[in-house]
Amino acid sequence: MDTRVSTSWAEIEARVPRWEALPDPRKVLRETDPEVYEAIEGERRRQWLGLELIASENYVSPAVLAAAGSVLTNKYAEGYPGRRYYGGCEWIDVVERLAIERAKQLFGAEHANVQPHSGTQANMATYFALMEPGDTALAMKLDHGGHLSHGFRLSATGKYYRFIHYSVNRETELLDYEELYRLADQHRPRVIVVGASAYPRWFDFPRLREIADAVGAYLVFDMAHVAGLIAAGVHPDPIPYCDVVTSTTHKTLRGTRGGLILCKAELAERIDKAVFPAMQGGPLEHAIAAKAVTFGEALKPEFKEYARRIVENAKVLASELAQQGVRLVTGGTDNHLILADLSPLGVTGKQAEKALDQAGIHTNKNMIPYDPRPPLVASGIRLGTPAITTRGLGPEEMKQIAAWIGAILNDIENTALRERIRREVAELCLRFPVPA
Ligand SMILES: Cc1ncc(COP(=O)(O)O)c(C=O)c1O
Repeated sequence: MDTRVSTSWAEIEARVPRWEALPDPRKVLRETDPEVYEAIEGERRRQWLGLELIASENYVSPAVLAAAGSVLTNKYAEGYPGRRYYGGCEWIDVVERLAIERAKQLFGAEHANVQPHSGTQANMATYFALMEPGDTALAMKLDHGGHLSHGFRLSATGKYYRFIHYSVNRETELLDYEELYRLADQHRPRVIVVGASAYPRWFDFPRLREIADAVGAYLVFDMAHVAGLIAAGVHPDPIPYCDVVTSTTHKTLRGTRGGLILCKAELAERIDKAVFPAMQGGPLEHAIAAKAVTFGEALKPEFKEYARRIVENAKVLASELAQQGVRLVTGGTDNHLILADLSPLGVTGKQAEKALDQAGIHTNKNMIPYDPRPPLVASGIRLGTPAITTRGLGPEEMKQIAAWIGAILNDIENTALRERIRREVAELCLRFPVPA
C-alpha cells in the first residue's frame, strides 16, 4: 500500500473537527446514559432552586466547567512540564505551565505545584516534604475551626505525625496566640499549621512568623477557605510570611475541586517530589486546565469586586442574624463565613440544618468552640456567602435570607412555614441564575 501523502501537515491537521463542532456532550450523555444524566440534571436543578450557604461551596463558570470536562482527562502525564515519563505531553505542558505561571502571578509566590488532587492531598504532601514520620506539628483543634487534615486522630495526617492542637480563647473565641507560643516552645514542632474550615476572623501572619522563628519551625498556612479573598486582596497576605501555603481551588477561589501548593523557591524541589512521586501518580490534567482557567478569572479586576462583595454580604448577613437572636461566634466576621451559635434559641445545629434544608436554605451543622454537644448534634451552624455572591445576591437579599432563617429557627417545629419559605426561596433563586 502506498501511504505517501503530498499534503502539508497543516492541511492534514485541519481535517480534525474542532472541539466546538462536535455533538453537544450533554445531549450525548442524555442518550447514552439517561440514569446518570437525570441524576446530574436533578442536582443541577437543586443547585438552581436552593440558597447555597455552605461556606466551602461555589458555582464555577462555564469556561472552568468546559476545561474540566475536556479530553485532557485522556492523558497520562506523570512528572512535571518538560520532565514527563510519557510521550505526547506537548499540549499538556502548555496547560500545566499556564496554571503554574498564573498561580504564581495571582498570589505573588516563588513556586507553585498545581497537581494535588485535593486540599487534603496538598496538606499530606506538604507534611511529607517537611517532616519525617513521627515528627511533631502544631495545628488548630478540629472543634475550634481546624480541619481533618490538620492531624485529626482518624486522618492519616494524625496517624503518621504527632500533632499537638492549639485552641481559641474561651472568652474571645479568637485564636489564642499566647497558648500557641507556649505549646510551640514546649513541643518544638517541625511545622506550625495555621488555617481553618470554620474560623470567621483574620490571622496575624507577622506574629505567627515570629512564633515559628522563635522555635525554628516551618510555618504552613492552609488558605483553602480564604484563597479567593487573598487573591483579591481583601484578606491579609500569608505569602511573605509562610514557608508553604496550601489550598483548595474550589471554595472562594471558585474553581473545580482540586488542590494547590505555593512555596518558597528553596522548598520547590522537596514539595514537587512529595506530590509526585511520593503522594500521587498521574496528574489530573483536565482539572489542571480548569485550575488555569480559574486562576485566569481570578486575575481579572471583576474578581476583586466579587471578593469584596462576598465579605460585604457576610457582614450584612451576620448582623441581620444577630438581630434574629443568633449568637455570632467571635461576635461577627472578617471573611466569607459566619459561625452561628444557636444555643440562645434552644435549637441544635442538627435540628437547624434539617429545618433550613427543607426550606431550600443549605447550611451545615458545626461545633462551636468548647461545644458541650457531640459533632453530629453540634450547637451551631456554619454559613458562607461565596456561592450566593456568585449568583449576584447583595445586601438586600442578605436581609431577606436572615429573616427567613430567623423565622424558621424561632419556630423550629413549624413544617408549613418551611414549605412556604421553600417556595419563596425558589422564586428568589430563579431571579439569580447559576452561571453554568
Ligand atoms: C482548611 C481546609 N483545608 C483542607 C481542606 C480539604 O480539602 P479537600 O476536601 O479538597 O480534601 C478543607 C476542606 O474543607 C479545608 O476547609
